[in-house]
Amino acid sequence: MSEVTGNYTLVLGATGKTGARVAKKLIDQRIPVRTAARSRANVRFDWNDPSTFAHALAGISGVYLVSPVMRVDFAGIVGRFLDEAERAGVRHVTYLSAYGMEHASEKVALRAVELDLASRTSFSHSIVRPAWFMQNFSETFLKPVNDEIVVPGGTGAEAFVGAEDIAAVAAATLADPAGHAGRAYSPTGPEALTFDEAAAHISNVVGRKISYRDMDREVWIDAMIQAGVPAEYGDVLRSLTETIASGRGSRPNNDVLAATGTAPTRFEQFAAETAAAWRL
Ligand SMILES: NC(=O)c1ccc[n+]([C@@H]2O[C@H](COP(=O)([O-])OP(=O)(O)OC[C@H]3O[C@@H](n4cnc5c(N)ncnc54)[C@H](OP(=O)(O)O)[C@@H]3O)[C@@H](O)[C@H]2O)c1
Repeated sequence: MSEVTGNYTLVLGATGKTGARVAKKLIDQRIPVRTAARSRANVRFDWNDPSTFAHALAGISGVYLVSPVMRVDFAGIVGRFLDEAERAGVRHVTYLSAYGMEHASEKVALRAVELDLASRTSFSHSIVRPAWFMQNFSETFLKPVNDEIVVPGGTGAEAFVGAEDIAAVAAATLADPAGHAGRAYSPTGPEALTFDEAAAHISNVVGRKISYRDMDREVWIDAMIQAGVPAEYGDVLRSLTETIASGRGSRPNNDVLAATGTAPTRFEQFAAETAAAWRL
């Protein structure tokens, strides 16, 4: 495989919520894609096994970068990956960060990777900083259990955003790197909703009552750790939920429209399209 003349886009986290959608959107535009994950992808890529980096990067011009998930200490290993990307002749990286990271300390790994990217001149980059995903309610930790959504969110609101919209923003940057070089987008949904309001939308589409239950934050974090979340990730969960509960959650902006030309999906529409996830 060529190291400098490739025109493939490497999609990391390609079996995940955004990566799978980014890969599909690029393939739909006939952009050559190489999907990467530990399994079920074109190439095996494992953040815990740096020997997998070079093979994944050979012949690659663009990268959709999803850093290690459920970890807090990844800036170093991502830096090593970016060093290899430079050597492989990569010309653009689009990084999946998180909402508000531009204000975070450089000690926060997502922010450290943003700053690392900004310091490199051999390739351009774009940053995608989404609000909380709507798909958290259908695929991960906000999925109702016994018809309850349990999270220490108080009465705070968040402009939950659809993974399709996040992927559309990322795909736009990867399809036209020059047009989005140096740009950062913070995809949000079109409205900020409380957890009560989100639960009401889900109730409407499933035809039974789905409730939101606020909970003591430390008890909730302990329960998440018991359920398999690494203990060191507890601080991230504390900060994420405190932000919403204290009224500092994300608010709607125009970034999805600006990057893609299409307005973001409403929660109501997401719920209608996703109803099967909540059927008993
Ligand atoms: N959920 C939210 O509300 C939210 C909001 C803002 C930002 N974010 C950010 O979004 C990112 C997660 O993106 P996502 O939700 O699209 O992904 P995801 O659905 O959590 O999926 C994770 C992906 O990473 C792969 N992966 C896991 N461990 C790996 C490893 N050791 N080496 C290589 N690949 C590995 C997984 O595939 P395999 O397991 O097969 O390897 C999978 O493809 C995180 O950085 C998070 O901070 C999330």
